[in-house]
Amino acid sequence: MKILIVCLGNICRSPLAEGILKAKIEERNLEWLVDSAGTSNYHIGDLPDQRSINIARKHGLDITKQRARQFLAPDFENFDLIIAMDSSNYQNVRALARTEGDKKRVKLMMNFLHPGMNMKVPDPYYDNNFEGVYEMLDRATDAMIDQMLEKD
Ligand code: 4NP
Repeated sequence: MKILIVCLGNICRSPLAEGILKAKIEERNLEWLVDSAGTSNYHIGDLPDQRSINIARKHGLDITKQRARQFLAPDFENFDLIIAMDSSNYQNVRALARTEGDKKRVKLMMNFLHPGMNMKVPDPYYDNNFEGVYEMLDRATDAMIDQMLEKD
């Protein structure tokens, strides 16, 4: 399973989600590949936001090896599942899809926890709610792993 997590900047939400998911995958001895990207080009090459680094560290995760990159159409070929944080990211990724198969790979993160509700993981860049984002991602990634394993 190859999973790409996508937000707007790839410095706040998706790097945190990548760190959380990688730790869970390691714990469960799963051979999955996880990466993250942003729909924008704003922060290409940047470290995660210091506030994401801090909240990750508080929960025992080191995300400082990550660097921001932009989501690009070839990512549809390299990943089985593309998980967006909010409906704007979801629509921006789907706008780059070339086939119906590409579109079907794109999911909203919180729908793994609350199916069909299309809830967003709120952007913490301005409101500073990094702890809230961490808790949401922690629960949603557990639900996601369980659902993927049921399908196998
Ligand atoms: P992210 O948060 O999408 O969770 O990485 C943001 C980071 C940067 C900006 C917006 C959201 N920005 O406008 O630069």
